Amino acid sequence: MKEIKAIIQEFMLPKVVEALRAHPEFPGLTVSRVKGFGRYGTEAELSETSPKIKLEIVVPAALVDNVVELIRSHAHTGRPGDGKIFVSSIDEVIRIRTGERDQDAL
Ligand SMILES: Nc1ncnc2c1ncn2[C@@H]1O[C@H](COP(=O)(O)OP(=O)(O)OP(=O)(O)O)[C@@H](O)[C@H]1O
Ligand SMILES: [Mg+2]
Repeated sequence: MKEIKAIIQEFMLPKVVEALRAHPEFPGLTVSRVKGFGRYGTEAELSETSPKIKLEIVVPAALVDNVVELIRSHAHTGRPGDGKIFVSSIDEVIRIRTGERDQDAL
């Protein structure tokens, strides 16, 4: 199981969510408003109040490439600040309602 964490521009969220929802095996996501800066962040960018969006998505490893490409292509404008996608490993998942674990809980 892998976690895909994506920082995207707020105005791209509807497009990205629509694309993810259309995926038949898509398990779910968490959305947060965040602030940050990238490698070429200026002081102005650092104090920028316009929010970025963070998506957190845990998927079976077999879905990672597909989901990453859906996010990348639907969050892309080609201009600086489009965001970044991070992929990491997840040890355990538990569905609270049933006690199911790992892939069964996704
Ligand atoms: N290395 C990083 N670690 C954690 N968060 C990051 C990192 N790089 C970027 N971010 C987050 O992603 C947001 C968007 O980053 P951004 O797209 O500006 O990256 P960049 O490396 O500057 O690329 P670009 O040249 O396309 O602007 C930042 O505001 C920050 O929240
Ligand atoms: Mg940048």
